[in-house]
Amino acid sequence: MAQLISGKEISAAIRAELKEETARLKEQDVVPGLAVVLVGDDPASKVYVRNKKRACEELGYYSEEHTLPADTTQEQLLELVKRLNGDERIHGILVQLPLPRQIDEQSVIAAIDPDKDVDAFHPVNVGRIMIGDYRFVPCTPAGVIELLERSGVELEGKECVVIGRSNIVGKPMAMLLLHKNATVTICHSRTKDLADVVRRADVVVVAIGRPKFLTGDMLKKGAVVIDVGTSRLPDGKLCGDADFVSCEAVCSQITPVPGGVGPMTITMLMKNTLTAAKMRAGL
Ligand code: GUN
Repeated sequence: MAQLISGKEISAAIRAELKEETARLKEQDVVPGLAVVLVGDDPASKVYVRNKKRACEELGYYSEEHTLPADTTQEQLLELVKRLNGDERIHGILVQLPLPRQIDEQSVIAAIDPDKDVDAFHPVNVGRIMIGDYRFVPCTPAGVIELLERSGVELEGKECVVIGRSNIVGKPMAMLLLHKNATVTICHSRTKDLADVVRRADVVVVAIGRPKFLTGDMLKKGAVVIDVGTSRLPDGKLCGDADFVSCEAVCSQITPVPGGVGPMTITMLMKNTLTAAKMRAGL
């Protein structure tokens, strides 16, 4: 039986650390501030935004929520981003993706002050991650690194396979693992003999959004499985990209869905916001 990597527990431990640091910062009159911008009323995005607000309350951050109608124009959204860039109370700006079709996502991301880009999606921050000189780390890959390190998984010299090549998860994930001196392979929908590549891996991070895609027969015995996927099955249950039952029989450690990577993402957003506030204060 594999050991469970609990994102719930690790996330709670990190939040306790952040809460303590926030209280210390308050003594120096620094209160981390996060603005979350939501365009339209996608139900999943609404849940994320609510959870972000709760996390701010829990840690003692200042938070603002900006909910704009689905027919908001690009100009209107850029105007809001510009205003938030200039607002001293706000250290982090998060524009919830995806955005409605009439808005060009990359233009909006590029308009965010890179020092307030707590998602680390701005090209300047993406470039910084590439060269290994970064302050903000995209929240999901950052959460995965924390899960691995706090579970005692050694990465140096290990074979790590990332399944998925998205800008939000797969690509930055590969870079972070590389910075930990792992040997990294990225697999995707066009990879030939994907199972043969995955079978070499000591650590597999799966982030392709296909329920139960990764199965136990694709794994080397004792591999570590990190499941980034969260899909809702027709019966309403949440399901990851890994087939938990067959993977658990072969691997040494695995993240559950829910309760694995999910709880880490917002915690990492809180960490980036604290970093932004400290940077602004010259600390
Ligand atoms: N939508 C899904 N994940 C994310 C994320 O990490 N950041 C933003 N801004 N939008 C998202």
